[in-house]
Amino acid sequence: TGLFIFIFIAILINVVLVDLIKNSVNYTFYSRLGIYSVVFLNVFSGYAIIKHRLLNIKIIYTELLALGVIVLSLVQLFTAKGVSEFISQGLIFVALTFFAYKLVRSVEVEIERKDELQTMANKLAIANDELRKLDNAKTEFISIASHQLRTPITAIKGFSSLLLEGSYGEVSESVRGALDKIYVSAERLVNLIEELLNVSRIESGRLQYAFAPESVEKIINELYDNFILIAKNKKFYLDLKFSKTKIPEIVMDASKIKELVSNFIDNALKYTEAGGVTINTELRDSGVFIDEKGFVIANQKSEFGKVVRITVSDTGIGIPKEEIPYLFKKFSRGKDVSRLHVGGTGLGLYVGKAIAEAHHGQVWVESDGAGKGSRFIIEIPVEHVQ
Ligand SMILES: Nc1ncnc2c1ncn2[C@@H]1O[C@H](COP(=O)(O)OP(=O)(O)OP(=O)(O)O)[C@@H](O)[C@H]1O
Ligand SMILES: [Mg+2]
Repeated sequence: TGLFIFIFIAILINVVLVDLIKNSVNYTFYSRLGIYSVVFLNVFSGYAIIKHRLLNIKIIYTELLALGVIVLSLVQLFTAKGVSEFISQGLIFVALTFFAYKLVRSVEVEIERKDELQTMANKLAIANDELRKLDNAKTEFISIASHQLRTPITAIKGFSSLLLEGSYGEVSESVRGALDKIYVSAERLVNLIEELLNVSRIESGRLQYAFAPESVEKIINELYDNFILIAKNKKFYLDLKFSKTKIPEIVMDASKIKELVSNFIDNALKYTEAGGVTINTELRDSGVFIDEKGFVIANQKSEFGKVVRITVSDTGIGIPKEEIPYLFKKFSRGKDVSRLHVGGTGLGLYVGKAIAEAHHGQVWVESDGAGKGSRFIIEIPVEHVQ
């Protein structure tokens, strides 16, 4: 249609008008109309070329090819000798024109698709960027909120502890019961906030480590002291089995490794109904190799030499095989663990994994299945470069 409109305008201005105004008074003005129309024509042709992507080299080649074939066939048609050849050439011409048209269309469609894909990819990139910003904002929010919460809760914990100790005078048995509950809840909150802070530090790469040589046995002994009462209250055993060969001091951030093993023991006590927990230390010539799902690959060794291995085994609810790949992920909790323990956030193992990796070590879990207990294991290379 555009083409016909232009032909129409061109004929109107350059032929018809010229004829009409030939004898008119204002001849000079009208005679310039032809020049204006050319400007008009050029602007619109430019617009049409851009809009329909007529400059696309693939389309131009295809169109040239199609045109060449059609012209050739047309020449053959007109140089045909005899009626039958004319008819057959005519059929060939019609068929070629049809296929040429289809070819040009398909190239155009393909290019449109490509453009659409490109726009979509651009949109995706933008959305991705937005998501990353949101994620950073979330991490920042958790960090600020946790810092603000920490101070008042520490005060609640501190003062209830002072009240319990009798620093503000004798407290009756019933008040003591209430204070106990306040203290325990405050402590849970402090731990939760500490975990959230750790997550936000890990995600923003701000978790700081203070490495120094430290004895593994010392850490385990301290943890034993922390947990033995809890275990006894639940009528569980808590056993220590230290390696017979002496484990050398290892360069590590002792408080973080302690936090990691502490969560192992805490979990083992939480997710066990009867029996108990054993903590094991071993010095091994090489570490195992863990695949990305968290399973040990037999007969493969990790890239580091000697490792210290700490294993926390329990006789608890165990872990179904299909849950193992997800346990060390953020906020991941087993399917029906809230029956035993409602308070968990599913962050302990996630934080622990980051801590182990910062020591070039690894953590994983082994379980013979639901109801058959679990073994949570950490391996740290004896010698590793920070
Ligand atoms: N010893 C265990 N026996 C069975 N399941 C376990 C054991 N330890 C961990 N799990 C499973 O792994 C999940 C994640 O443990 P993680 O320590 O990360 O979180 P949590 O203990 O639920 O909460 P918190 O953040 O307070 O530690 C648990 O919710 C539980 O389903
Ligand atoms: Mg835990």
